[in-house]
Amino acid sequence: MIPYGKQSIDDSDVEAVIRALRSDYLTCGPEIAAFEEEFASFVGAKHAVAVCNGTAALHLAMLVTRIGSGDRVITSPNTFLASANCAAFAGATPDFCDIDPVSYNLDPSALEACWQNDTKAVVAIAYAGQPADMPRIAEVARKHNALVIEDACHGTGGGFFRDGQAWKLGGHPWADITTFSFHPVKTMTTGEGGMFVTDNDEFAHHARILRTHGMVRDADRFAGFGDHGGPPFDEAGPWVYEMQDLGYNYRITDLQCALGRNQLKKLPGFIQRRRAIVARYNEAFADLPWLTTPGLTIPESRETISWHLYTVRIDFAAIGKTRTEVMMELRERGVGSQVLYIPVHLQPWYRKTYGYGLGKCPVAENFYAGALSLPLYSAMSDADVSTVIHMVKQLV
Ligand SMILES: Cc1ncc(COP(=O)(O)O)c(C=O)c1O
Repeated sequence: MIPYGKQSIDDSDVEAVIRALRSDYLTCGPEIAAFEEEFASFVGAKHAVAVCNGTAALHLAMLVTRIGSGDRVITSPNTFLASANCAAFAGATPDFCDIDPVSYNLDPSALEACWQNDTKAVVAIAYAGQPADMPRIAEVARKHNALVIEDACHGTGGGFFRDGQAWKLGGHPWADITTFSFHPVKTMTTGEGGMFVTDNDEFAHHARILRTHGMVRDADRFAGFGDHGGPPFDEAGPWVYEMQDLGYNYRITDLQCALGRNQLKKLPGFIQRRRAIVARYNEAFADLPWLTTPGLTIPESRETISWHLYTVRIDFAAIGKTRTEVMMELRERGVGSQVLYIPVHLQPWYRKTYGYGLGKCPVAENFYAGALSLPLYSAMSDADVSTVIHMVKQLV
């Protein structure tokens, strides 16, 4: 079976994890800081804070920007639940604006049209790896003094082309914070894992302390124990820590970061391989009248995108088969597929909690009706790609 997504692990990854296992640290050791430094340098950001998953990175983004009760956070409905749930975790109201029909990303015009006075942040997704129109999204948000958080969980190592220049996700000026996921189906993996990236010193410091229960160990940043400042509380010994905020255990381990560092070295190769597979699919499917290949909002970005998903749109009515029948038929022929995503605003919890319903984001709802993600991962062989192409063409 050729799955729709899969990690790429070789002996060098196994050896990196074994080396970490044999070291003095399983967690909170040197691999974490090294991974953060290397990742920040790779994307061109000042700070990278490694965490236990991409969801934690999104939650931290809400907390350090002080988003909470009474605030609205707008995101795309065409995403994984976490991009919206993070606002609800913080007590804010997640809201949704429609997507653009080419990139399937948040549409800046829709964003402007659905803006409300209590909107404090936008979470823009790089769906399938293709970035949203970040400069236009930032223009809308900044006009209203709101923050831009880029959920780049699909787009690690990728970027876009603008003003004659290639910009990396995490390293461009149109997002205040960028988050990444290293789940095994993503472009590079740490098993579970995520990264919080920013150029803002205070956001980074706050994310670091919230990652570990809100604890501060740096004496220069101590607030003191107030009324209880006498003995033993006035002794600033090496054991002293202060809890300055309500944080979490969002830590990642050294084992995971050892894997992450080794995967990061191979990331450019992973991205190239995925791009080559996408190019083959696009060419093979270009003439099928019942199938739409992924569109590019910025054609020059072709060589900068880090593709996570290859999502096509199928006119199921035209081929006289339901999506379930197509998926079953592909599965019987050894080809996995997936549907990404059910629009988040239509999930039962969102309907019940916020009263959202069908018709709120018609472009995303229409996209969902035809979406099907075909296998895409760097370890796919050329023969696997040929099999997928052949089996898709055999559907009709
Ligand atoms: C767009 C998007 N955002 C956030 C996440 C959450 O990442 P994680 O699974 O690492 O928590 C995912 C994971 O699938 C995702 O696809």
